[in-house]
Amino acid sequence: MSADHTPLVFSGMQPTGNLHLGNYLGAMRNWLKLQSSYRCVYCVVDLHAMTMEFDPQQLAKASREVAAAYIASGVDPQRSVIFVQSGNSDHAELAWIFNCVARVGWLNRMTQFKDKAGKNSEKMSVGLYTYPVLMAADILGYRATHVPVGDDQKQHVELARDIAQKFNNDFAAPGFFPLPEPIITGPATRVMSLRDGKAKMSKSDPSDYSRINLADDADTIALKFRKAKTDPHPLPESEAELEGRPEAANLIAIYAAFQEKSRQAVIDEFRGAQFSMLKNALADLVVAKLSPIADEMRRLLGDQAELDRQLREGANKARAISGPIMEEVRRVVGIGR
Ligand code: TYM
Repeated sequence: MSADHTPLVFSGMQPTGNLHLGNYLGAMRNWLKLQSSYRCVYCVVDLHAMTMEFDPQQLAKASREVAAAYIASGVDPQRSVIFVQSGNSDHAELAWIFNCVARVGWLNRMTQFKDKAGKNSEKMSVGLYTYPVLMAADILGYRATHVPVGDDQKQHVELARDIAQKFNNDFAAPGFFPLPEPIITGPATRVMSLRDGKAKMSKSDPSDYSRINLADDADTIALKFRKAKTDPHPLPESEAELEGRPEAANLIAIYAAFQEKSRQAVIDEFRGAQFSMLKNALADLVVAKLSPIADEMRRLLGDQAELDRQLREGANKARAISGPIMEEVRRVVGIGR
């Protein structure tokens, strides 16, 4: 078995509500760039969305919306594989096999479970606990070598590496599964809430003012930036002065990411100015970037039959990659027929 794997990019997003600026800047923008150099597989992870309370009536709709957001943002179904996770049952089967590889101690260290469960861990679903194992199956089921994600998913990709390594040691050969690398790059790998610069921008924040959704209209975007929390000082003159000013750092990072500039270049542009200047410029910039995406999303969702056809085609392509890998996996663990 060769340890050299053909590079393959895999990533996914949960259909649990609106995609927001954090998803876009932290992950999706890197997905788009990778399409020109790598084989890319981008998944709407509906099985992951079942790990917390969910509404079955909404799940299929939310999955279509996320798929439409991928395509509207520039993920090209001709170049990249786009599909819904449940459309390829290899994910669930490999997750079970990996449940028998991963150790309880490894999962006990996952900070996202602790964050999501809080004091209620006993009442959480077992699915939420083993969520990172399903994520490892998503990645390794395609022998993916690169995983573009936001900063919050780093620990999960590291767990996928640990699972790959243990599987290789216990059942197969050193190169059977690649050890996937997270790709976490850009000035906005961790976009923060607009209401609290110390909290991550998140779909689950009860305040819609905490985030900019990809589907927000121009007035809503401008209003959310206007209401964004700031501090009483003028904008800084240097990166060092951002220390202890999380809200300023966040707005500057968002601006830098959209302009494809460094944080220092943005600081140079706004040094000493009032926050309102930056907020107005941000609103204009973000509206200009996001409104064509929102329009295209609406257009794609208007033709559900065509979107579903593209997703079925994507699932067929996904199975064509994972199928032969799963046959090898079954054989090495002794369940192949
Ligand atoms: P999810 O759906 O929470 O988020 C999707 C992607 O968006 C990134 N992200 C952020 N980046 C910067 N700032 C933020 N505030 C922010 N919020 C979210 C996430 O890091 C992620 O890249 N477990 C994954 C989904 C998943 C997956 C996978 C990812 C399932 N299987 C296999 C990669 C590979 C998740 O919940 O992402």
